[in-house]
Amino acid sequence: TILVVDFGSQVTQLIARRIREAGVYSEIAPFSKAEEAFARLQPKGIILSGSPAGVPEEGSPRAPQCLFDAGVPILGICYGQQVMTHQLGGTVEPGDSGEFGRAFLTVTEECSLFDGLWEVGERHQVWMSHGDKVTSFAPGFSIVATSDGAPFALIADETRKYYGTQFHPEVMHTPDGAKLLANFARHVCGIAEDWTMAEFRDQKIAEIREQVGDGKVICGLSGGVDSAVAAVLIHEAIGDQLTCVFVDHGLMRAQEAEQVVSLFRGHYNIPLVHVNAEETFLSGLAGETDPEKKRKFIGKTFIDIFEEEARRIGGADYLAQGTLYPDVIESVSFTGGPSVTIKSHHNVGGLPERMNMQLVEPLRELFKDEVRDLGRELGLPDAFVGRHPFPGPGLAIRIPGEVTKEACDILRKADAIYLEEIRKNGLYDAIWQAFAVLLPVRTVGVMGDYRTYDRVCGLRAVTSTDGMTADVFPFSAEFLSNVATRIVNEVKGINRVVYDYTSKPPGTIEWE
Ligand code: XMP
Repeated sequence: TILVVDFGSQVTQLIARRIREAGVYSEIAPFSKAEEAFARLQPKGIILSGSPAGVPEEGSPRAPQCLFDAGVPILGICYGQQVMTHQLGGTVEPGDSGEFGRAFLTVTEECSLFDGLWEVGERHQVWMSHGDKVTSFAPGFSIVATSDGAPFALIADETRKYYGTQFHPEVMHTPDGAKLLANFARHVCGIAEDWTMAEFRDQKIAEIREQVGDGKVICGLSGGVDSAVAAVLIHEAIGDQLTCVFVDHGLMRAQEAEQVVSLFRGHYNIPLVHVNAEETFLSGLAGETDPEKKRKFIGKTFIDIFEEEARRIGGADYLAQGTLYPDVIESVSFTGGPSVTIKSHHNVGGLPERMNMQLVEPLRELFKDEVRDLGRELGLPDAFVGRHPFPGPGLAIRIPGEVTKEACDILRKADAIYLEEIRKNGLYDAIWQAFAVLLPVRTVGVMGDYRTYDRVCGLRAVTSTDGMTADVFPFSAEFLSNVATRIVNEVKGINRVVYDYTSKPPGTIEWE
């Protein structure tokens, strides 16, 4: 095991992820709980993360002394390098100018951290992001690589196996970063075992059992991958102490609600309450055209119905959610200042406080693709696990303007044709998200000898790794015109199809 001590960097989770990708188990503990985590895990190596704080600042966090007394290898990254330097007798000072972005290192000495990877005299691209810097290193250390802005870019004490990088090896912009971290875990710390998702599953199952005891857990299913994976995992851990509630707002894609129900009831035999609340949602949405009001209404109604069902079931002690790591970082403001709400995201937020329940969030450490791997590990069908993300408010935010049953039905048909063509052409897995939207605009067309006056359908498809930024998927013109023809011919109510060519930013993925 590698223990990652978190000082609050936005990218700490990436460190753990890179280590896991190298087949070595890794766990993150906040610096305040690092001592306890160390005693529990007996790790063979420690990584100290970056931080928004600065070592010279009063009250900034420190690593527990026991980590330095333990005699295991330590890698300090950015703030981690500085805090280690400071605690071991070197000095760190506020830099007059920070260094942010791409930088080039020159390797000056051999070092076991990059054995077999980098040679003396080579230059390598890395990603820097720091204001303060080390100005004299602690006894025992020496410089093994430098950059123009950071003379102490990489320092090492080979006797104690302590290493400090001013740059961030965990981010993609440090091309060899993943290999450096793998080298630290495997070569420096000598960890040979191969960690797998199967072990993660077993470990989470043990943790869930410990957390929940013989308490009752309730889990809201959205129809999406995350909540389904969380529910199946929790069910493996505690069986029928779990009840799932699927609030079906009637704003799902074609066949989707049926699939969720049959998967849970038929395949897994997990207790499931299916609430068909289409009426409530559609009547509440009638006449509403403001995107934020639509989102807020759906979010609130969802919570009201969920709460009512929970009461009917007879109270639960825990609320399970499929929160992923990107949801966790998005919800923590980095600057501490107010962040601007672009869209009010719909999840089950607000529920735990209102219902006075503790949270069970077994996926908090994972990224979307890791959740998919876990889902496969749990036996969820590939087609389900590989599904594109779908927003909580569903089709309501893909129908700009008023949402009606008729509009939902038209959109479902167009969307199904679009996705069918994407699958048929083998493009589904290359796309992060593809969907149709139904515009409130009507345009004139001609079909046969008749004039038509119908609605416009927009098609969207993007590539992305996390939904935070996105590029337009470059379909061939032939593909798009084939889909357009099919939609206009087969879906009554649509007589024109357009393709959305906007990346994110400046667009967002959804239209509302
Ligand atoms: P935007 O439209 O903000 O979407 O670029 C980014 C990603 O988030 C999804 N999305 C949501 N997911 N609840 C969710 O669970 C929501 O309210 C919500 N709104 C957008 C969107 O589909 C895309 O994957």
